[in-house]
Amino acid sequence: MNILIVGGGGREHALAWKMAQSELAQNIYCAPGNPGTAQIASNLPIDPEDIDALLKFAKENDIGLTVVGPEQPLVLGIVDRFQAEGLRAFGPSKAAAELEGSKAFSKDLMKRYHIPTAAYETFDDPEQARQYAETLTHPVAVKADGLAAGKGVLLCQNAKSAVEAVETLMQKKAFGDAGDRIIIEELLIGHEVSVLAFADGSTVLPLDSAQDHKAVFDGDQGPNTGGMGAFSPAPILTETLREQVLQTILKPAIAAMASEGRPFRGILYAGLMLTADGPRTLEFNARFGDPETQPLMMRLQSDLIPIFEACIDGTLDQCQIEWKPETAVCVVMASGGYPGSYEKGKKISGLDAVGALKDVVAFHAGTKEKDGEIVTSGGRVLGVTALGASQESAINTAYKAVKTIQWDDAHYRTDIGRREQ
Ligand code: AMP
Ligand code: GLY
Repeated sequence: MNILIVGGGGREHALAWKMAQSELAQNIYCAPGNPGTAQIASNLPIDPEDIDALLKFAKENDIGLTVVGPEQPLVLGIVDRFQAEGLRAFGPSKAAAELEGSKAFSKDLMKRYHIPTAAYETFDDPEQARQYAETLTHPVAVKADGLAAGKGVLLCQNAKSAVEAVETLMQKKAFGDAGDRIIIEELLIGHEVSVLAFADGSTVLPLDSAQDHKAVFDGDQGPNTGGMGAFSPAPILTETLREQVLQTILKPAIAAMASEGRPFRGILYAGLMLTADGPRTLEFNARFGDPETQPLMMRLQSDLIPIFEACIDGTLDQCQIEWKPETAVCVVMASGGYPGSYEKGKKISGLDAVGALKDVVAFHAGTKEKDGEIVTSGGRVLGVTALGASQESAINTAYKAVKTIQWDDAHYRTDIGRREQ
C-alpha cells in the first residue's frame, strides 16, 4: 500500500523509519519530510496545513493510508476531509482533536468525567485573570488555551510571577490568539511521564511508557522546549501505576469522548504527573509525542501499519503490541539559543559515521539539504536515538553518537536518561 506521512520532524522520521520496515508498505511519501525521511521515502513540497494539496496528492497517487504527525492539521480537520473523500487517514477528527486544541475543553471534560487532574480556573478576561493571580498563595501553572508548540505553559512560584504570566499570555500575546483564554491551575509536584495509547473510539491499547525532558538545560533547568530528549521504557511507571493510568485516565477519557459524540480514533497522549496522591493528567495530546516517538519506534517490535488500520476500522480489540525488551534513549541536538532565537544554515558533520553505527539512528528534525550538504534549519535539529541492553548502555551509545556529530553552536543536554527516579 502507498502511505502518506504528514509532517517533517523527528517524530515523522521515526514513523517513516518504522513503517518502511513493514512488508505492507510500498511507496512512502512525506509531506514535507526532511533529509532523513528522504533516505527512506519520497519527500513532497506540501505544507502539513495545506489540506487541499494533500488531498489532491493522496487521490492522484493511490494512497491507502495517511498518517498525520503534528497537531495543527488534526485540529484543522484533516482527517474529516480525507474521510469525506473516502480516504483512510489515521488520527482524530477535528472534534476529537479539540482534546489537544483547547486546554479549557480538555480540563472541563476531565472535571465532568472525574479524570484526575490539577484544580483550575479558566479566564477569558485579562483583568479578571490578573485579579485572581494577585490573590494566589500557592504556586500555579498558567497555560494558554490554544496550541503553542508545547511552550504556552508558564510555571509560577508566586502571585507576582503569575500576574506576569497572565500579562505575557493575554496582553503581550506571546503565543498569539492561543492566549486569549487561559487556564490557571495548581502546580503539581512529582515525576512526569508520558503514556501514549492507540484508540479506535472505544478500545484503548497503551504503548510502552516513555519519559521526556522538557527543560532546555541539564538538571531540568531553563525554559521548557518541545522536548530535549526521551527514553523508553520509563521504570518509574510500575505495572501497578500503568494499570492505574489505564483504568483512571486513558479508558475514562476515551469513554468520555465517545459519550460526548466525539469518538477519539488515533493516538491519545496523556502527559502525567506522578504525585503523592497518584497519577494526575497535565494535558492530553491528540498525536504522537516528539521526541517520545523516536525511542518508542526503536523499541516497537510489532508492525505499525495493521495497528493504524485497526484504529481506523474499530478493530483494535483484536490487536496486540509487542516491544523489544531493550531500552531506547533519544538525545535531541538543538541549535544554540533554542527555544529562543537561533541561527540556521550551519553545516552538520558526522552523520555518515553515525549512520554506520549499529543500534543507533539519527532521526532528522530541523535539517535541510543545501548544495549537497546537510545544514541546520530549525530549533530541534536531530534526535540521536540508541537501543541498548540496559539504560546505561543505551545512554552511552547515544552520547557516543552525539559526540560524533558536530556543527557550530550545537546544544544538547548531557543528562538524558539520568533523571533521578
Ligand atoms: P502541558 O503543555 O500542559 O503539558 O505543560 C507543559 C509542561 O509544563 C508539562 O510537561 C509540565 O512539565 C509543566 N506543567 C504543566 N502543568 C503543570 C502543573 N499543573 N504542575 C506542574 N507542572 C506542570
Ligand atoms: N514531547 C512533548 C510533546 O510531544 O508534546
